[in-house]
Order: sequence, then structure tokens, then C-alpha cells
Amino acid sequence: MENTFYDYGKPEGVDGEKLLDLMDEGHTPVSLWALTNLDVNENDEILDIGCGSGLNLKRLHEKSSKAPSFGIDHSTTSVRKSILMNRKDVDEGNIVVEEGNVLDMPFEDEQFNIITAFETVYFWPQIVNSFKEVKRVLKKDGVFFLVFETNGCANEGYEKIANEQGCIFYNENQLKDFLFEAGYEKVTIYLRNRKDNKKVIRKITSVDCTQEIVEDNFEGDNYLDELKSEKYTPSSEWMCILAQK
Ligand SMILES: C[S@@+](CC[C@H](N)C(=O)[O-])C[C@H]1O[C@@H](n2cnc3c(N)ncnc32)[C@H](O)[C@@H]1O
Repeated sequence: MENTFYDYGKPEGVDGEKLLDLMDEGHTPVSLWALTNLDVNENDEILDIGCGSGLNLKRLHEKSSKAPSFGIDHSTTSVRKSILMNRKDVDEGNIVVEEGNVLDMPFEDEQFNIITAFETVYFWPQIVNSFKEVKRVLKKDGVFFLVFETNGCANEGYEKIANEQGCIFYNENQLKDFLFEAGYEKVTIYLRNRKDNKKVIRKITSVDCTQEIVEDNFEGDNYLDELKSEKYTPSSEWMCILAQK
């Protein structure tokens, strides 16, 4: 039987469409958990980078429906799928999806209040320059919100994916350093070990770092059953990061 190579970093064609459906299923737990750490107001202008199927764009626009929401992705298949996923809002001009690369985005300086990146930073080129380009289109008091299903390359499963896909599973410290190097001034890291209901919140500036551990009663906890299974090591943490300039 032929083995299909799924390109997570640029899903294209029929296999790309299948993969985007699989990713919606696989990424939903971490996406819903991450969204519990992000305040979204109805007037926020949002950009979702690497928007994939457009499902997170839909989730975000439901909370910020008084302003237009934007998605961008360098895959034509992802763009097409995001448009289909949000057909009515796209037709009414409430959601705009464009093809483009994070390194050079077709948006004005300081256009967005919230910029999100779900499960995509692993593939971005020239990471510090990509983060600088995000900063350019982020409003002064806006937030850049990054979501990852793993903090670093936590186990052999991730090592295999990294080798096959040519992507990088950064850890919290690497990402924090890249963000500061790109000029962000405040970084808040949220970590949740999949095996319990505790969350670590680490707030970091150039002069200060505080940490607290709090209960995390994410209501999608039933999703965690599979993730609690033995194949995941305790080091396999969900992570989301909120960066401000
Ligand atoms: C693993 S998928 C994640 C999709 C979606 N955000 C999710 O959470 O399911 C990564 C997505 O990021 C897009 N992507 C990767 N590198 C990109 C880049 N440099 N610029 C724009 N999009 C990119 C890919 O085409 C793909 O749609």
C-alpha cells in the first residue's frame, strides 16, 4: 500500500484537504484550551496566521463579530477551505482570507488588536523576522497569541514528525528569546501538563519574571482522556504565549 506524505507545513490538493480535516479534529482540544486564556472583545480586529481550515478564524469571529476578521495562509488549499468554512461571513465581507506568507503580509502597520497563530509557528521561516513582521501589523496595545500542542520536542513522536516535516518544536525559552529579540516587551507563557488540571502562568518582562500555578478547569477536559494515555510523556505540555509590544 502506498504511504501518503501529508505536508503539515503547506497542505495542498486533495490530500491537503483531508489533512486539514484531520487537523481540525486533532487540534481542537489545544485550540479550545488556549482560547480560555485569550480575552476577545466584539470590536477587536483579528488576524489568524496559518489559518488552515479556517475553524479558529470562525471561533474567533464569533467573539469579535463587530469588526472584520482576517485569515492568511501560504497554502491555496487552506485559503480555499477557510473561505468555504466561513462562506456566509466571507460573502458579507465580515471575514477576509488571503494567500500570503507571514514574512511579508499585505496589511497596514498597526492594523490588528489580536493576532493568532495556532499550531503553525513550527513551520515559519526566519523566526525572528517573522515575529517582527507580526509586530509591524499589531496595534500598540494589541496581543500576539501563539498556540502549541507541545512545549519543545517532548517525545519520540514529535522527533519523528520534526524529521519528516522539517519543522521545529520550539520550547518556551527559545520562543521567549525570539520574541524579545523581535522587540516584544512583555511575554506571558501558559503551560498545561496534559495529565493534570494545573496551569503554570509565567509573566516575563526584560526586568521581571513571576510565576504562579493555578487550577485549570478547562471544560473540554473530556478531550484530555486520550491525551492522558501512556504514549504521551509527562513533559508533553500544551503551551500558549501572549506577547505584547
Ligand atoms: C499545521 S497547520 C495548522 C492549521 C491551523 N492553524 C490549525 O490549528 O489547525 C499549519 C498551517 O500554517 C500554514 N503556514 C505554514 N507556514 C506558513 C507561512 N510561512 N506563512 C503563512 N502560512 C503558513 C500552513 O499552510 C498550514 O495551513
